Formats: sequence, structure tokens, C-alpha cells
Amino acid sequence: MSDTYIQNLLAERIGGRSYGKSNAIYKFEKIKRAKRAALAANPGAEIIDMGVGEPDEMAFPEVVEKLYEEAKKPANRGYADNGDAQLKESAARYMERVCGVRGIDPEKEVMHSIGSKAALSILPAVLINPGDFVLMTTPGYPVFGTHAKYYGGLVHNLPLTAANKFLPDLDNIPADVLKKAKVLVINYPNNPTGASATPEFFAEVVKFAQNHNIVVIHDAAYAALVFEGKPLSFLATPGAKEVGLELHSCSKTFNMTGWRIGFVAGNELLVKAYGDVKDNTDSGQFLAVQHAAAYCFDHPEITEKISAKYSRRMGALVHVLKQAGFDALKPKGSFFLYVKAPKAAVKKNGSRIEFKTGEDISQWLITEKLISTVPWDDAGNYLRFSVTFVAKDENDEKRVLAEISRRLGDVKFEF
Ligand SMILES: Cc1ncc(COP(=O)(O)O)c(C=O)c1O
Repeated sequence: MSDTYIQNLLAERIGGRSYGKSNAIYKFEKIKRAKRAALAANPGAEIIDMGVGEPDEMAFPEVVEKLYEEAKKPANRGYADNGDAQLKESAARYMERVCGVRGIDPEKEVMHSIGSKAALSILPAVLINPGDFVLMTTPGYPVFGTHAKYYGGLVHNLPLTAANKFLPDLDNIPADVLKKAKVLVINYPNNPTGASATPEFFAEVVKFAQNHNIVVIHDAAYAALVFEGKPLSFLATPGAKEVGLELHSCSKTFNMTGWRIGFVAGNELLVKAYGDVKDNTDSGQFLAVQHAAAYCFDHPEITEKISAKYSRRMGALVHVLKQAGFDALKPKGSFFLYVKAPKAAVKKNGSRIEFKTGEDISQWLITEKLISTVPWDDAGNYLRFSVTFVAKDENDEKRVLAEISRRLGDVKFEF
């Protein structure tokens, strides 16, 4: 088919005249295809899906009720723009009660987001000029970097490795990059490594930002999903509000991925600028959704119940994977277990299957064992297991985990 004039008009940032013509298949599409093929080859068999990056359950009934109540109010029907006081005030209370961050001004230092993804796509417009560098951790959630590149920005990747406890090494960034670096994006507890930050690391980040005039964006999408102690907020670090923002979301912490609601908090000027660009991007999330989210922020016990479930599942999964030979360590939070990919699997009859990458073993697991995972080959070869797999109740959960153990039991993994 010859190109239409529309093809010729597409912007270079999405590929221009080459847009849509590549035959490359991206990671998540490969996983989907492998799942479909595995189902077709094994009709009626159970695929154990450990690849999903979102909760397996609905929002709690009381939150759905709150949405229903708020949706019936005529006052909530219109454009929400940058929102009313309810979410802002509850978010400020949440920051203090849950994250130990005092003194957040709900009027000036908080603004809702239509999910953290939306905020991460808006913020580059606030900060990035052509040629500016963004420091992004890899493996990671790429949205800020993608949009920064749309604006002519450049991304410098900071690898997250086991040797550094999956924290970026801020001391060895090339001087020419550092000179043009404007933003550091971090995310803890981290997707995909499951790693948590420490107060010392956050203090180092604040110092780094002050020394090099850098804005810090802390994506705290999983922050409240902790298995012990309190969530660790970047904004609890002395000086953090002077250098950056933190992004919270109801998606994972309140089982509300589809609701599209969260908030941005921190530096007043950045919050204001985010609000101005946001106002030119969307017209705000439905006030009924904002008010249901405000209810959530005042009921952190919901997140505690969700965390307890993930903690229980994580403990059991670590046990199963260790028995299978993986070097699995229970993370302190999130719902992700990140393990080194084996180099080979040896069957009882002695036949040996080699894996060069995380993607190789991930494809083998889905095809041979009907277990879906997500491979990460960006900084070492790893597999990510999510404990958001579907199980009706605790007994069913045990059954699923025993089934994983059984399916992995007939091979010996080599690392
Ligand atoms: C690290 C990280 N940040 C942000 C998001 C998006 O969150 P939200 O649903 O609030 O847009 C995700 C979703 O997977 C994520 O893993």
C-alpha cells in the first residue's frame, strides 16, 4: 500500500513516515501472544498469570458506595478543572498520618492527577526544553522519559543493580550529562525490582539535587504497599519540598487502577506549574471519583488490608521459588518479586534448555509451564513475578502456589 498524505504528516517523534511499519514486537505483546498460543495448545488448562501489574480485586465496597453517593449529587456533575478542596485536604492529612510528612499546604502544595501516568506525561511540559537531560532509572516505568523525548529532551539511564541494592548510583554520572540534567525520576518501592529506598538514600538524593540544581520526581505509586513499618515518603526527607514532587496514586494502594485518580504533592511552584499545564491538558477528574479518593485517603486501613494480602502471598511465593532454586528474597513492599533469570533448565531425562535472556525463560515458562511472568533484560537478566495472580480465597491461593511448585518441580534450574 502506498503512503497516504496522512502518513507523511505524522510527527517524527512517533516515527514519522516509518510509523506503524516496523515488524518489531514489543515485550508485552510477545507475552500476550505466547499466552494465547499456550492456551490454544492446551485447551482448558489453567494459565497462572504472574505477569499482571495491577490488583486482582475490586475497590472496597464502601469506596464504590461513596462513588455512587457522590455521583448522584448535581453539584459534582460538571468539569472539575483543577479540583475542589476535598481531595487536597484529605491528601494533606494522608501525607501526615500515613507518610509522616507534616505541613503540606492543601491549597498550594497538592493537586489531583488522573493517575500518576497522566502526571508523568504532563510534568515534562513543565520542565523540559530541547537538549535537557532526564535521569531515569532502568529497568523502570518509562513514561516521564518518553514525554521528555517528545519535547526534545534526552534520557540518561541509571541502571538498578543488585550490587547497589537497586538504588541508582548518583556519583558516577558523566559530567557532560550532569551539566545538562534537569530532572531525576525515581520510584520506590520500585517497579519492577520491588526494592525500597532508605531515608539515607533520600537524603543523598536531596543533597544531589541541591548540588546540581535538579528537580526530583518521586513516583510513589507503590509507597503505601509496605509489609512492615510505615511507608517511606521522599517528602519526609529534610529539604525534599524545596527540590521536588511526590506522586501518589489510588491505583495500586486502593485497588482502583481503572478509576484514574491520584495526587501530586510537594514544591509549591512545581505544583502550580503542573496545575497550569494540566488545566490545558484535561478538565479534571470527575468530582465523584475525587471525593471517593478523598474517602480512601482518610481510610488507610484499606491499604493495610491489601498489603497484608500481598505480604502473605509474597512470603509463600518466595518459598516456592527458593525450593525451585531461585535466589528469591521477600521485598519490603510492592507486589513485585524480581529474581535473577536462570541460564538453563535441565529435565529429569537430562535434556537441557538454555536461556540467554530473561525473555527466553519467560517464553519457556509460559509455553512449557503455563506460567506467565514479565522478563526484564535492561540491567542484567531478570524475571518479575507479581503476586496479583487470580485466586478466589486463601485456600485457592495456596492451591495456585502449590501448582506453581508442582509445575517447576520436574526441572533443575542452573544460574
Ligand atoms: C512505577 C509506576 N508508576 C506509575 C504507574 C501508573 O499509575 P497510575 O495508575 O496511577 O497511572 C505504574 C503502573 O503500573 C507504575 O508501575
